[in-house]
Amino acid sequence: MAQQVKSKQRVAEHGEVFTAEREVNAMLDLVKQETERVDSRFLEPACGDGNFLVEILRRKLEAAKRRASPPKCKKPLPIEFEKQSVIAISSIYGVDILQDNVLACRERLYKIWEAAYIANCSNETNEECRAAVRFILSRNIVCGNALTLMCVDENQKDTKCPIIFSEWSFPFNDTRIQRKDYSFAELMLSANTADNIRKTGQMSLFADENGEVEPTLLRQYIFDYRRIQDYGE
Ligand SMILES: C[S@@+](CC[C@H](N)C(=O)[O-])C[C@H]1O[C@@H](n2cnc3c(N)ncnc32)[C@H](O)[C@@H]1O
Repeated sequence: MAQQVKSKQRVAEHGEVFTAEREVNAMLDLVKQETERVDSRFLEPACGDGNFLVEILRRKLEAAKRRASPPKCKKPLPIEFEKQSVIAISSIYGVDILQDNVLACRERLYKIWEAAYIANCSNETNEECRAAVRFILSRNIVCGNALTLMCVDENQKDTKCPIIFSEWSFPFNDTRIQRKDYSFAELMLSANTADNIRKTGQMSLFADENGEVEPTLLRQYIFDYRRIQDYGE
């Protein structure tokens, strides 16, 4: 079984106790349908090294495989699997206050994605897509304080940079991905004023049209998903 506690100091200072795989799966099964949808968005505001996020990614990649397989065919089309797997990774978000957890989380997610990429796309894999996935992970898994909604430094102190999240989507049914950046603080404000969260308890992370507060769009790019890392940091 994976270690649940790294040190007494980390438990005392940051409440760091990792959730065991069995509990992770039991909790995710409560929202099973969502975990098996390639594009459903998940945000873990205290993600640790990613115990929940890696399991969500595993489930999404299975769904990506099904979605990329033509009818009556068990094997996915490599080009379609690649795109679906990018949709899967880009819909997973995390925040943790400890830098080593953030790096470990990104690496675990990357390795799971890459293993599935190789298994399903074999000799059609390419370095550009790998770089794009690493870039998306660097934006989606953030070292920050989920209470103040600010990025933190290596000593867990707030910096002057607010946490910014990118909304990724494929609006044109081709290989172009759209990136839209918003501050986490405004997204939370918008989500909390939206009708859906009052009625269902489910939060819609990005620009909920029913929200009373509209988050400010900080920047926007549209580019081929394999080259998204060439635009902005
Ligand atoms: C109980 S652990 C849970 C980790 C992971 N979600 C899991 O279930 O395995 C809590 C995590 O929250 C992080 N944490 C504590 N305070 C935080 C804060 N203000 N903002 C973001 N992360 C925080 C800790 O570093 C730790 O990784």
